[in-house]
Amino acid sequence: MVMKQIQAPRGTKDIIKENQRHLKYIISNVSDLAEKFTFSKIDTPVFEFSEIYTKGIGTNTDIIDKELFAVSRQNGSFEKEEGKSSFCLRPEGTAGVVRAYIENGMQSWTQPVKLWYEGPMFRYDKPQKGRFREFRQAGFEIIGDSSEAIDALTILVAWEIFNKLDLKNEIVIEVNSVGCQSCRVKIKKILGQYFNQNKFKLCQDCNNRIKNNPLRVLDCKNTDCRAIIQKAPQILDLLDNECKKHFQGVLEYLDEMEIPYDINPYLVRGLDYYTKTTFEILLKGDDKRQNSLGGGGRYDNLIELFGGQKTPAVGFALGLDRIIELLQERKIKIPEAETPNTALIQVGEKARKKSLAILKNLIENDVSCIIAPGKDSLKSQIRLADRAKAMFALIVGQKEALDNTIIIKNLDDGSQETVMGSRLVEVIKKKLS
Ligand code: HAM
Repeated sequence: MVMKQIQAPRGTKDIIKENQRHLKYIISNVSDLAEKFTFSKIDTPVFEFSEIYTKGIGTNTDIIDKELFAVSRQNGSFEKEEGKSSFCLRPEGTAGVVRAYIENGMQSWTQPVKLWYEGPMFRYDKPQKGRFREFRQAGFEIIGDSSEAIDALTILVAWEIFNKLDLKNEIVIEVNSVGCQSCRVKIKKILGQYFNQNKFKLCQDCNNRIKNNPLRVLDCKNTDCRAIIQKAPQILDLLDNECKKHFQGVLEYLDEMEIPYDINPYLVRGLDYYTKTTFEILLKGDDKRQNSLGGGGRYDNLIELFGGQKTPAVGFALGLDRIIELLQERKIKIPEAETPNTALIQVGEKARKKSLAILKNLIENDVSCIIAPGKDSLKSQIRLADRAKAMFALIVGQKEALDNTIIIKNLDDGSQETVMGSRLVEVIKKKLS
């Protein structure tokens, strides 16, 4: 039976053509920089036990309460099979990296351990511009060092990525500190009292947040709530001396490196694991703060929360889909897609029979080649070579097939020569160099 509808699920997309080229470009730059900054790549599973997210990111966050994608099998669930709790698609990368850090005994490696990753993440968000249900992130985590230099190093890595992509003038880095666990008790109490006094002016969501986690009210986008938030006590004023000193230290490193930043004393993030430094990378002029390009911060309690030894950590992740859109909107030039060195054109039955053997020889000698062995017409094969912007056409007709020769035609200036098949690779390589 023919399927009624063939379409990707809402909030997902195929990445093809220009988007694929931009994605590849971003990842190759991120990967180069990761290597320069001596980060090792880590790939973690796309699905994990849900518990690492509920525990790590925290209930009473949108990601956990509304956006997790559960994973189950058609005939029965994983739970029964594994005898463990449920699974879900990863909504972010940090929890998986922390799980891997503990499980792989990275605590015994030289600290700090510097890891980076890229890949798809899944959140059941309301799809809109820049907001998807499957989206790609590149993330960096530095585990095992509590000094403020490491927070600043993390921000430096993010900055250098935007610098490399020619986007540094398009972004604003906002920084804040949400304090350590003991500051958090005080912050929650004071913010809770303030929002409670103003609860009639706040939306229903915020009213629910007051009880569970008043810090989350600071993240509300509702205009009426924003007016109340603007006058709320500032987190930075509520920090203890140690956390204030740490934050000051981070800013001094940023100043020294001349990395521009804005202090946003109301910046909280959508995940509960943060302690001390938090930061977000926004598009200049994105006053509604709808589409942050990246974000991160310190999470000194997460490893212990997952059953490891108490270990400080800091990291960030970038939203690659949003960066692709930005590169395209700003018309930032990226290298052209590579064109094939050659296009193999065959005419007649004998030539066609030889064509794949010629292709095999070229590929094994690192010469790229476009070929349409299913096509008979010379015209359509030439059109294909033109469209692909191949440098040389390699033409094999009936006569050449019999003589074991090939015509090499320079598609730029039209000049051509005939060579023996056995010399093809040698001659073409010379021409290409
Ligand atoms: P996050 O702020 O939730 O942080 O996500 C990081 C970035 O992912 C966002 O700034 C945004 O660019 C992109 N992003 C998030 N949701 C979507 C979506 N629905 N559609 C498109 N892009 C999206 C984290 O994920 C933390 N794990 C970052 C981190 C690493 N903190 C410490 N280490």
